[in-house]
Amino acid sequence: MRIGVDYYPEHWGRERWEQDARLMLKAKIKVIRVGEFAWSLYEPKEEVYEFAWMDEIIDFFGKKGIKIILCTPSATPPKWMIDKYPGILAEDIHGNTKLFGTRKHYCFNSEIYREKIRKLVGLIAKRYGKNPYVEGWQIDNELGHGNTARCYCEECRKKFIDWLAKKYKTIECLNKSYGTVFWSQIYNSFDEVIIPKAGTCFDFDSGTQGQNPSLLIDYYRFCSDSIISFTKESVDIIKKYSDKPCTSNLLDAAVNSGTGIDYFKLSKELDFVSWDNYIEFQWGKAKMETVSRDHALLRSYKKKPFWVMEQQSGPCGWSKMGPSPDPGKLRLWTYEAVANGADTVVYFRWRACTFGAEQNWHGILGHDGKENRRYAEIMRTGEEMELLSLRVGSLMPKARAAIIKSFDTEWCHTIFQNVEGFQYDNLLLSFYKPFYDMNIPVDFVQAEDELSEYSLVLAPALAFVSEEAKNNLESYAAKGGTLVITFRSAFKDEYNRMLPQTIPGPLAELTGVKVNDYDPQFEKSTSVAGIFGSGTADIWCDIVTPEDAEVLGLYTESYFAGTPCLTRKGTVYYLACDLDDKARSNFTKYLCNQAGIETRLYEQEGIEVVDTTDGKNHVKFILNHNNYNTVIAVNEEYTDFLTDQKVVNTIKLEAYGVAVLGKHLR
Ligand code: GLA
Ligand code: ZN
Repeated sequence: MRIGVDYYPEHWGRERWEQDARLMLKAKIKVIRVGEFAWSLYEPKEEVYEFAWMDEIIDFFGKKGIKIILCTPSATPPKWMIDKYPGILAEDIHGNTKLFGTRKHYCFNSEIYREKIRKLVGLIAKRYGKNPYVEGWQIDNELGHGNTARCYCEECRKKFIDWLAKKYKTIECLNKSYGTVFWSQIYNSFDEVIIPKAGTCFDFDSGTQGQNPSLLIDYYRFCSDSIISFTKESVDIIKKYSDKPCTSNLLDAAVNSGTGIDYFKLSKELDFVSWDNYIEFQWGKAKMETVSRDHALLRSYKKKPFWVMEQQSGPCGWSKMGPSPDPGKLRLWTYEAVANGADTVVYFRWRACTFGAEQNWHGILGHDGKENRRYAEIMRTGEEMELLSLRVGSLMPKARAAIIKSFDTEWCHTIFQNVEGFQYDNLLLSFYKPFYDMNIPVDFVQAEDELSEYSLVLAPALAFVSEEAKNNLESYAAKGGTLVITFRSAFKDEYNRMLPQTIPGPLAELTGVKVNDYDPQFEKSTSVAGIFGSGTADIWCDIVTPEDAEVLGLYTESYFAGTPCLTRKGTVYYLACDLDDKARSNFTKYLCNQAGIETRLYEQEGIEVVDTTDGKNHVKFILNHNNYNTVIAVNEEYTDFLTDQKVVNTIKLEAYGVAVLGKHLR
């Protein structure tokens, strides 16, 4: 466990470095990430390369004992390049060409762009691949951020056609798979296939509504694949010269959701994953369960510890600012990351910049570069992390419950939202929340993954269920695993077409139910009652006939009153509707009880407790997200790692305070 900073030494005069390094070392900052936007410094003119500036940076900070994460600068192709090769610019969903002037203006499929970045990455990797101060690599920066995952240019269309031809072999096969007979869309050759842009059929719709849903999902898959192949290309080049690990900084689920990269797939190309964690800024304040969910996703992609590559360290925003984090929050957020599986937390940014688009984005230091209260808090955190890492290795919570997340399903539900208010990412979060509230860790998995380490698995709205997933879920349940399947599951085929079977097609036998009808809850809700108490469904009601499942809950109004909304066959539950917070929370408690996952009598609001292990030692984190002091009951005996005192019955925590309680510390 350790901390680092995102640093731009090229933004400051060389004479400032000495002071920066001194302050960093004093705060126990062990690593800096550099160079992710520096293409025009590396290649100021075509094929004119300059490395002396970076040689100096790496050498200077490396010699001070600070390690370097070196980035590929692919997010900022320079002006000369755009002028000479304007085809590099991406096209948006309306067909408008992106502009130079910000960043991320490139098309991932542009041949010339790919050639240029391959060459530069090769030169950087060759030059620094064996440099002892470079400890890892970051590919690009926030791949796909700001709707840049999907480009709609002609070059992309051509590549898309190749991708389709490989997948479908013949145009007849594509026509059949897409059902292009609908609205006379039959293609005579792959060359004719379009890219699904916005505003097609309805002039009141600026989205893609009306486009063929099979074409759309393939296009989304193709775009995700394009970014993954782009990433892999950079990783492969680096691997030729360096044995240091490669990562890329991922986005939180809400931002990635719907703009799409399949992070499970992308993660396979990376040695470790990292993400950017902004909690309160210009664009909103994250809920506590949202941040926890994002950390959980990150530890799930590779099932190992991850990094936070950008962690908020001051008030932030572009044109406007969010609040200044209250004293204690920077430290609290760092512990929250570490408790949930992060082993390095890198703060964005070291010092607020005096120029450029992000002048308002504060770092640890303000514009004046002087020590301040944020610096003091980070220094304390850095010292504590150093101590913690002397005692234990990287920590991870050991989850016994998991939620299935499918990017394919996410795209399916963004193409057709099912009903107003239905949002896959929110739905998953709503299932995560009751566990978070009970301090029960949850991992995210794919339906095809090995599930035996979990005693409870939830599959919310899993639209696509492959043959492999079906077999996997069946064998998980056959071995006694508790499984929850919900409404809007198993109703689509891989081409994003409705299944001609009764829902839940491939899962009918496993769940023991038939969905003969449904009632999307548009401007209405329906009351329900059952083992979860009473409540309401506000999004969706499946109207279910149990074949060989017992009934655990019923609709209590509407024309389907008295029919089941929750059933169970063996250890498999079918939840036919969404539930409000209270009913969902009761249901989750019921499930935990059934699956043998311990729950406590009550939890304190705003207190996050995470039990973690490094494989040998047990560490309990207690995090006070409240702005008041409180006392928390601790049942077993621990050593408070921060004070070295014994903790027996209770522990006092200040506002935003943290306790790190150890057992069997070495
Ligand atoms: C993102 C980017 C950073 C910076 C911050 C602040 O996370 O990765 O380069 O732009 O946001 O906006
Ligand atoms: Zn393109």
